[in-house]
Parts: sequence; structure tokens; C-alpha cells
Amino acid sequence: MTTKEKAKTSDWPEKRNPATPLASNKHLLKWVEKMARLTKPARIHWVSGTAEENQALLDQITASGTLTKLNEKLWPGCYYARSDASDVARVEDRTYICSLSKDSAGPTNNWEDPFKMRRKLKSLFNGVMQGRTMYVLAYSMGPVGSPMARIGVQLTDSPYAVANMRIMARIGAPVFAEIDKDTQRVVPCVHTVGMPLGRGKKDVAWPCNKEKYIVHFPETREIWSYGSGYGGNALLGKKCFALRIASNIARDEGWMAEHMLILGVEDPKGEKTYVAAAFPSACGKTNFAMLIPPASFKGWKVWTVGDDIAWIKPDATGNLRAINPEAGFFGVAPGTSNATNPNAMAALAKNSIFTNVALTPEGGVWWEGMTDTPPAECTDWQGNHWTPEIAKQTGAKAAHPNARFTAPASQCPTIDPAWEDPNGVPISAIIFGGRRATTMPLVFQAFNWSTGVYVGATMGSETTAAAAGATGKVRRDPMAMLPFCGYHMADYFRHWLKMQRSLSETPRVFHVNWFRRGPDGKFLWPGYSENMRVLKWIVDRVRGRALGKESPIGWVPRYEDLDWRGLKFTSAQFDELQNFDRSEWRQEVIGHEELFLDLHDHLPPEMIYERELLICRL
Ligand code: OXD
Ligand code: MN
Repeated sequence: MTTKEKAKTSDWPEKRNPATPLASNKHLLKWVEKMARLTKPARIHWVSGTAEENQALLDQITASGTLTKLNEKLWPGCYYARSDASDVARVEDRTYICSLSKDSAGPTNNWEDPFKMRRKLKSLFNGVMQGRTMYVLAYSMGPVGSPMARIGVQLTDSPYAVANMRIMARIGAPVFAEIDKDTQRVVPCVHTVGMPLGRGKKDVAWPCNKEKYIVHFPETREIWSYGSGYGGNALLGKKCFALRIASNIARDEGWMAEHMLILGVEDPKGEKTYVAAAFPSACGKTNFAMLIPPASFKGWKVWTVGDDIAWIKPDATGNLRAINPEAGFFGVAPGTSNATNPNAMAALAKNSIFTNVALTPEGGVWWEGMTDTPPAECTDWQGNHWTPEIAKQTGAKAAHPNARFTAPASQCPTIDPAWEDPNGVPISAIIFGGRRATTMPLVFQAFNWSTGVYVGATMGSETTAAAAGATGKVRRDPMAMLPFCGYHMADYFRHWLKMQRSLSETPRVFHVNWFRRGPDGKFLWPGYSENMRVLKWIVDRVRGRALGKESPIGWVPRYEDLDWRGLKFTSAQFDELQNFDRSEWRQEVIGHEELFLDLHDHLPPEMIYERELLICRL
């Protein structure tokens, strides 16, 4: 170390110069150098991931105005950020899959010629980090060293992204040590907020750019993200790596990268059954993953493995095992409360980052649905004075509908003891679900694997605020992967069908809908804890203990097949909830066909036969 370097180390609690590389891998060093030449940052910081470094970073981001430290007594270790009003959600129309051929990306992805896109990115990234620090952030999706884990390195000029990634993934020195073992291909990720600080240019609290590009190169397994500091656009381990790039890796290697929560159901005898469930964004995955059984379910427990992403792989005996590649929850805040999800509330009570919720005068946070009585006043997500009266008059929300908490998974009271098992947990059932006001019953079980794949492939849901654009319209969202599948959707269906060949036993497949409404517009099902009744039927079906009856769409429970102890829910109510309406299903299969028309030339024959069979049964 030179004397100059030594002098700088005193700035950092670890007494090291942050510019000194933490890995010796030649490819990594060369790439970092090359990207620094392109982006021209003022300094480079290799992120070690230690608590001391994290605190120094948080202090620095607080001093710069991006974060506000919350009241330590009320919210220990918590911080608050307010984004630019134009940077509040994933930008699906600016998300690209740049495969060599357009056909590989398929019609559900935006495609651009990789050569053309590289030229565009090179010009956008030229000098883009001027005046800023480039952080070299190594991260492992999955427990470090797990045979199912994969590694990425994100170069970013957003310290806010670093602080969030530290919660969402395993980062820093242990991951650099893995990279130095040189046993796997590392996914290079480059991220910039797209706002260089040229001479005299002043920074803002939430730097970003009106122009945004979230770009994936599936063949070279690279991610480039430009212009946004928010969520899935900026925390590249999550949607970009763990889903879009990983779905490509999984297809090539014979496993599955899915937009699924993982939970374990423990019965009073201590028998545990793990299930994975796919729901579109902002449809209650976090709540379901942390479900608390109703009081009448004495001795039953639900354990949380993950709330958003599952990497699922057949083991040596042909059984599926899954890991949660993430280490934190990036959950939707509005609607989360001690009534709807006390486990999430406990998880986010400390060491968490809140973005676009409201700030209370006591230095706490609030969002719609957090408490029955709103605070008398607060500062809303755009920095304006907010009171319940103002809300009544203008409709202004205190929190943005896609406001988020970033919370460590380890703080969740129901975190499964095996959540970091390097070999994952065994998966016995897969559940698909959407937000559907009509048509879809509370629950049905697909007849077999290929029917199950059809059910997942044709899933529909009303759009939510998790992505920019209109909300409340039914769109087809196959396996909840529409925005996340990094290749041709019909080839993805084929991959699902093919998985059966490597399994000694397929998991049972179910479809649920917590959101059906009656003619008066009211929800027919209370949801939340009561979903345990459905989950118990699913577990009992998997274990061969529950009956059901055949219907045109699959196996359905009869009223007496569900455990109703502790809930007044009549057989007539249940019939309304489970009602199979032939005319609605005619519309539904027309919706399936619309999706299939787009995918036609790659569609596996099973999907066509399954549709024909369904029509015959209708
Ligand atoms: C998420 C999403 O943030 O799906 O999990 O949008
Ligand atoms: Mn998600």
C-alpha cells in the first residue's frame, strides 16, 4: 500500500482503502478496469459488506440527502427514501432481452439487436459516472457456497442500491473469495442512475434519468441498467439476474428459476410439507408466505423460506428441491399491517429501508392500511404535507401504491430453520394464482403435470402498481413470469413440460384465487389467515389424505373436504366461491387462445391438446 493509500484508509472504519480490490480474479479486475474507463467514476469502492462499512455508507447517503434516518427509538437501524416521482416502479416497456435472434426472445419480450444495443449502451455509459463513486458489489444469489447459488458482480453508482442489495443478497468479501475460487461463471451487471456530475453539477436526493434501459444479454449472461434507481430496475440480483438471466441458465442446465414464494406447512405431528407458489407482482405473495393459521388450527404452523423467487432443481433422486436465492424481502408496504401480516411487520421493524412511504413527524413511517387510524399529519411520498382531510378532498395517497420496504429475511419470526440449507427444501406442490374478480374458483387441482403446466401457462391476473402502466385490467401472465421470462415464452412452457422427464415424482399442481367478488363487488373470501384452510386441503391432497371431486377444470374440494372449524362459512357461500360458470369459462379459453396465437410457432403440442381437452370438457 502506498502512503497516499494509507492516508485514505482512515476514512473507512475497516482501515482499508476502499479502492483496493478485494478479489484477485484477473477477468474481474480487467472488466472493472474496462468499465471504469468507460464510465469514468471519480473513485472506485470495492464493497466488503461489513457492518462498519455499511454504517459508514448509510451515514454518507444520509448526509447527501437520499436517506433520512428514522427515529432510532421507534425504528432502530431504519432509513427512509423518497424517489423521484418519475422513478417509482419497474419499467417493463424499457426492459429488453437482447438475444442474438429476435425469435429467441419471443413476442412477450422487447427485443433489440445486441450489436445495436451495445452501441447505444456504450454511448449512454460513456462518462456516466463522472463525479460519482463506482461501487464494485459482489453478490451471491443463494447461500454463499451452496451448489445451487450463483454469483453476480454489480457495478453501480448508486450507494442506495448498495445498501438495499446488502439486505436483499449475500454480498461482499465472502463472495469475492468464491469468485477467486474460479468455479463458476460470474454474471457481470452494470448499473447507473444516468446522471453524471460534471464540473459544477450539483447532485439531487434521487438521481435518475428520464430515459431508462434495463437490458439483458442472455447469451453472454450480462445485465446493463441505465437511468433508474428503483427496485427491480436497480437491485440487479432480483428480477434481472434471479429471473431473466437465471431462467436462461436454468433452461440450459435443466432446472427452474421461478417467480414463486416458498413456504413450509407443519402439521400438529410435526410433519412438514413445502410448497412453491407463483402469483403476479403485488398479489399477496409476501402475505401468503408468512401466513399465520387461524386460532382453530391448533398445532399448525407455516414457515417462510422465501416470498418472491424460487430456484428449483431436481436432486439425485429426481425430487425437486428449492432455494430462495434472496436474503431479504422487497415487499409492497401499503396494505401491510399487524392485522394482515404481523410477520412482515416484525421483519421490517428494524434494520430496514423504506422507499416512497410517508414520513411521520416523530420520524417514523406510515402507509395506507398500516393502521386503522391514519396519523393526524405526515409528509407524503412526494414530500408534501398530508393530512386525512387533504386525502379526503384530493384523493392524495400518503404512500405511493408501489411503496416498498427492504427488510432482512432473517428478521422474519416465521423464517424456516432450513431457509439457508445449501441443498434447498423439498417441493411437494406448486400453486398458481392470480387476482381475478370472476371465473376462477377459490381452488382447484390440475389433473396431472401437463394440465398443471397448461393452468400455469394460461394464468391471468388484474394488473397492479408493481409495474408502470394501467392497473386493474386482466392480462395473461404465464406462471407470473410475463415480465421476467428471459426467453421465448412458448419455449419456457416446453422446458416446464420437459422437466417431468428428470423427476421421479412430479409435484401436484393447484390454482387458487383469493380475490373473487360477488355481484355486489365485495370479496367472497376473507383471505389472509383463512387461506390456511385451502393450504391444508392442498397438503392433504399431496399426502393422499383428502378427497375432492372431478370438475371440467380439475379436482375441486367439496364443502366437507375443507376444515371449517372456527369460521362461519356456509355451504351456499362456498358454492358461490367455487362456482363453475360455463359462459365465463368460454370467455376464459378465448383469452388463452389470444396468448397462444402470439406464441403459436413455438407452442408445444401439449398446450394445444390440453386446450382442446378443456374445451371438450366445457
Ligand atoms: C416484485 C415484483 O418487486 O414482482 O417482486 O414487482
Ligand atoms: Mn415479484
